[in-house]
Amino acid sequence: MKIAFFDAKPYDKPSFEKYGEQAGISFKYFETKLNEDTVDLAQGYDGVCVFVNDTVNAAVIDRLAEMGVRYLALRCAGFNNVDMKHAFGKLHVFHVPAYSPYAVAEHTMALLLTSIRRIHKAYIRSKDFNFSLSGLTGFDLYGKTVGVIGTGRIGRVFVDICRGFGMKVLAYDKYPAAGLDNGDTVRYVALDELFRESDIISLHCPLTEDTYHVIDEKALAQCKKGVVILNTSRGALVDAEALLSAIKSRQVGAACLDVYEEESDLFFEDNSGHIMEDDTLARLISMPNVLVTSHQAFLTEEALENIAETTVQNLLSFAQNGQCENELCWKESSAQRCENGKCF
Ligand code: NAI
Repeated sequence: MKIAFFDAKPYDKPSFEKYGEQAGISFKYFETKLNEDTVDLAQGYDGVCVFVNDTVNAAVIDRLAEMGVRYLALRCAGFNNVDMKHAFGKLHVFHVPAYSPYAVAEHTMALLLTSIRRIHKAYIRSKDFNFSLSGLTGFDLYGKTVGVIGTGRIGRVFVDICRGFGMKVLAYDKYPAAGLDNGDTVRYVALDELFRESDIISLHCPLTEDTYHVIDEKALAQCKKGVVILNTSRGALVDAEALLSAIKSRQVGAACLDVYEEESDLFFEDNSGHIMEDDTLARLISMPNVLVTSHQAFLTEEALENIAETTVQNLLSFAQNGQCENELCWKESSAQRCENGKCF
């Protein structure tokens, strides 16, 4: 089987080569992202392998299907960049539902600790032998309340980490997890209460029509003054303009962002020699209380191994059995999964 691998980075190759070779799948690595301009590179391949910032819209799907490409293997969990309804009946779409919830949850806590203990400032100071402590005062996490929006795999690991720090957890999920609410240190509450009562808010839900700009001007106005916003999920969960205004007005005390609404043309690339066109991102990055990482939360050795292993397994399983448990296949209007691989 031949797969065209888009948005390839040097750190992707070792694990995909290893698992691909074992399974008899060959990958051709393209550095470019998949979109309407690059889709023809997939000519002659059985499938394409894409990541979070590739564009798989109706036009791309139609062209892939026209060229006889059958598989769309997402090497990530989220699939908000794929027009799933349009793909139905045209491509078999697979994803990697979980590769390391620990990687993302631990990165979220790393950002939080860095921000509130001013480690980013201290690191730069000590490199310059400046050992002054002025301006480095932080606050204890112990006893603070963290609001966790989305209590799936990553959210639950983050809840556990926060409990280890002695924090209280207020959780919100459209589909609450059984057994998580203990009526004491972890409680499910309505979103309004979570906004009002949390010292820190962390986003771990997918990007959907429901969750688009879940953190907007109205939500931020309800929050405690000085709230810390953590987003390691998807950029468009946060209205970046509203966040910037709330930082300027001191309503938000700090923000840690691993994702950004307009990240697709910027993140994962070295833009250091370019003029930053995105004024909102430039202004956010210029703030002393904003930390931005470049969609890096997943990037651990364990996660990269799991991503490659599951992606290869998805392709192999479908090719051999016509079935794959990680197929995402939505019927035109009902938004339900088809019976494993039986949609076309
Ligand atoms: P998951 O599917 O296990 O959990 C998502 C949770 O969100 C579920 O409990 C679901 O019920 C809940 N949810 C769905 N709609 C909701 C709504 N309207 N309001 C509140 N909660 C809602 O997914 P997982 O593995 O925990 O991943 C969460 C998100 O993390 C992914 O959707 C993805 O966007 C992001 N992610 C980011 C990575 C990074 O490198 N920064 C890497 C991997 C995932």
